[in-house]
Amino acid sequence: MKALFEQFSKVFGEGGSLRSFFSPGRVNLIGEHTDYNGGHVFPCSLSIGTYAVARKRDDSLLRFYSMNFASQGVIEVDAKNLIYEAAHDWANYPKGVVSIFKQQGFSVSGFDVLYFGNIPNGAGLSSSASIELATSVLLNELNELNVDMVEMVKMNQRAENEFIGVNCGIMDQFAIGMGKENSAVLLDCNTLDYSYSPVELKDASLVIANTNKRRGLADSKYNERRSECERALSQLQDHLSIQSLGDLTIEAFEAHKHIITNDVDKKRAKHAVYENARTIEAAKRLKARDINAFGQLMNESHISLRDDYEVTGFELDALVEAAWAEDGVIGSRMTGAGFGGCTISIVENCYLEAFQTNTANTYKKKTGLLPEFYVVEIGAGAREINHITEAL
Ligand code: GLA
Repeated sequence: MKALFEQFSKVFGEGGSLRSFFSPGRVNLIGEHTDYNGGHVFPCSLSIGTYAVARKRDDSLLRFYSMNFASQGVIEVDAKNLIYEAAHDWANYPKGVVSIFKQQGFSVSGFDVLYFGNIPNGAGLSSSASIELATSVLLNELNELNVDMVEMVKMNQRAENEFIGVNCGIMDQFAIGMGKENSAVLLDCNTLDYSYSPVELKDASLVIANTNKRRGLADSKYNERRSECERALSQLQDHLSIQSLGDLTIEAFEAHKHIITNDVDKKRAKHAVYENARTIEAAKRLKARDINAFGQLMNESHISLRDDYEVTGFELDALVEAAWAEDGVIGSRMTGAGFGGCTISIVENCYLEAFQTNTANTYKKKTGLLPEFYVVEIGAGAREINHITEAL
């Protein structure tokens, strides 16, 4: 942290009261592409994330600096005039958050902020939602707004949807805002009811593997999947009184799927319904400490994302297949939006090293890319981490 305070003073000058914040990244254990379909998700917040050091200003200027994008220097805007500007690149995320707070009627002063993140960018671990929540928490604290975390989560999703123009669901912001140490959160995205489950894997660990194939969430394919599901829902609604695909049991879907005329839309809806059921079941299995059944559901999730939802692609399939072939792997699947990014696996501790070496070799032979591994530590959600009255 000391290095961040020093860097802050170099960039913005000494003095004043500095406050520091941390907002995690997230990984989803199961429940993919279910959030915007009104289903369940089961993510956890990571111990890696975004740090922010901030100081309130007396005027309405916002000055942003990221140690990860140091060459872009300080990006300065006036909170009275916030619009998306491509040249502002990453700073559009915090700008979007301030803009939504203001639209909601909160009175916010200007501030200087320095960010430092240790989530790999573009890996699908939600570095963008992490910077959004870091910004929300600092706005909330600097201005003593007392906004409830779930409200901030919703505002951050709006920032992403309306200011950035990415039509994401609520999972990332919720996992990052509401995450809890050593727990996954089972969230019903229809009602926002949630409960925490301790992640106790006996002699095994969660391992994230990065394909190192970059993915863009703004990718048109994400919005295409949403539209396909919306079309399927709208046809089903002509006959059924449901609000979302998440309202359907597997039995109800099987009994009515003939109503969906387009075969592609039918496959997409099938994934949404089955994945939702799998997620509810997986949370139960984890509670019962049946790790093998949980791993099996992860594998089934990947197959459904590969064959029915078609969001995996060559690299993710290659990495998951390489994992499946290894001893000690209890389950493995893609995680996040797909089209590149990361996989998540449960691996027995005594096989952790062999898993990494062998999977990397097999994957490299097939794709020419070298994966990276992170043994997951589940940390707490976005928060203020320190409060000091003077610059160091
Ligand atoms: C991205 C989105 C989330 C969710 C996942 C897929 O991470 O931001 O809202 O839709 O993809 O499960």
